[in-house]
Order: sequence, then structure tokens, then C-alpha cells
Amino acid sequence: MKERVLQWLRGSHNSVRFRFLGLPKYWLTYLFQYRLRGRSWIEFYGDRLDGFVDIEKPLPEGYAARGEVFFAYIRKHDLEPHHRFLDYGCGFLRTALPVIRHLTEGRYVGVDISAQRIARGRRYLRSNGIEDDAYEVHVVEDCKLRELEGQRFDFVWAMSVINHMPEEDIQIMLRALRPLMAPGGRFLFVFNEGETTRRWRMKDWWYPVSDVRRWCEEAGFGFEILPDYEEPEGYTRMAQLTVPPAQSNAAKTALIR
Ligand SMILES: C[S@@+](CC[C@H](N)C(=O)[O-])C[C@H]1O[C@@H](n2cnc3c(N)ncnc32)[C@H](O)[C@@H]1O
Repeated sequence: MKERVLQWLRGSHNSVRFRFLGLPKYWLTYLFQYRLRGRSWIEFYGDRLDGFVDIEKPLPEGYAARGEVFFAYIRKHDLEPHHRFLDYGCGFLRTALPVIRHLTEGRYVGVDISAQRIARGRRYLRSNGIEDDAYEVHVVEDCKLRELEGQRFDFVWAMSVINHMPEEDIQIMLRALRPLMAPGGRFLFVFNEGETTRRWRMKDWWYPVSDVRRWCEEAGFGFEILPDYEEPEGYTRMAQLTVPPAQSNAAKTALIR
């Protein structure tokens, strides 16, 4: 009986405590310390994630190993050593490790809103023999990607990031990213598919595929869902965004005529 009451009180959350104490506290903090002071969702979420990081603690083995699984998928989708690679929401740099080893030096770039995650990720890479100057990372405070101005990326990757972003931030990011894409470049990202837009636990979003497609197309990308992504939860989808390849001189001349 007691267990049934607890289960009812817990609902779809991990614990009763989180549902009735943790979550309301996060909402109040966000509203009063951030929104009412003109500070953004990104500032709130970045600070919150920073607060969870123990910089001294090594990454759990199973967690770090997922980086290899993601890399296998990225490889399958033709990441070449000469490609310039952007890891959007790079977190603890677990995917960076195999990607940096695969790429020509200096072609990996990561961005994230959590300075502490990046700092711990750097330690993780160092402990695996990769020095700080072998790659580039940026802590960002918005989705405008000004830090990357002048760069062009062949392959952009965002694992479990878009599902933590509100719609307006996704649209800003897509529009900022489009001019940073090399001809023929691709952007692979996962998102949660829902019949309607849904927000849960404050930081998780579900979006209809038709909305995601529209935002991507309006930003100037081709959009498709990749069917080979094995979705662990039943609602995550892997999207591939494309930009047209460079036109050959002959094709350009034909167009001018
Ligand atoms: C679930 S973690 C995944 C990290 C990494 N992609 C991986 O697979 O290990 C989500 C990451 O996205 C970052 N993030 C969330 N919103 C972001 C945004 N608007 N821009 C950049 N990074 C963001 C978070 O700080 C966090 O590190």
C-alpha cells in the first residue's frame, strides 16, 4: 500500500522529493534569479549543469564508452580525417576522444554552455594523451555561434542537445550555423519526437517532426530522418541536415548562360 502511494506521488518522476521539492525549486530559481533579471534559459541551464560537475572525478567508464558508440555511427556516416568537425553541445568531450584521434590535428571544434563540463572533458582528454592544443573548444552564452566566425564545417554533430533546447534557441542556432557550413556539409542531431510540443522536467523537450523540418528548411538546410539510428527510448530521431555541394566551374558557367 505504502509503495503504491509513493508510486502515485512520484508520477513519472524519479522521486517524490524531486517532484515536490527539487523541480519547484528549479522553477522558482529560474523565474526569480534569471528571467526576472533578464537572464536567459542558457545562463540558467549552464549554471545548473556546472553545479553538478565534480572536476576531480573521472568519467564513469560506461558513460565515457558511449563516445565510441557515437563515433562508430559518425564513421558509418563518412566522417573523413580531413573534415572539419563541430561537436555542438560537446559536454565532457567523450565523443571528442575518438573523433580527435581520427581527424587531422586541429579539425575538432566543440562548443558547450557548461564551462565545468568542458574543463572536466579537457582533463579526460589529457588523461588519454590528447593535449589542449590539439583541438578547439568554446564556452558559449547563446546560440549565435559568433565564436566560430570565419570557420567552415563539413560535419556537425549534436548528441542529446536539441532535446534540451527551447524552440527559439534551436531556430537561432540553425540560422547561425548555416553560413558556417562547408559546401556539401552535413549536420546530424537527435531530437525527441512528439505529436505536439511538450516540455517535461523543465529541461526536456519533444517536438513534432513537421516543426523540426520547417525550422531546418527555413534556415536553408535539406532535412531527412536517418532510419539507421537505433533509438533507445522509442521517441528519439536522428536528423540529417544537408547543404548543397560546391558547384563546379562548368556548372556555374552553365547557370550564368
Ligand atoms: C546530455 S548532454 C550530451 C553531451 C554530449 N553531446 C555527449 O553526447 O556526451 C547535453 C549537453 O548539451 C549542452 N547544451 C545544452 N544546451 C546547449 C546549447 N544551447 N548550446 C550548446 N550546448 C548546449 C549541455 O551543457 C550538455 O553538455
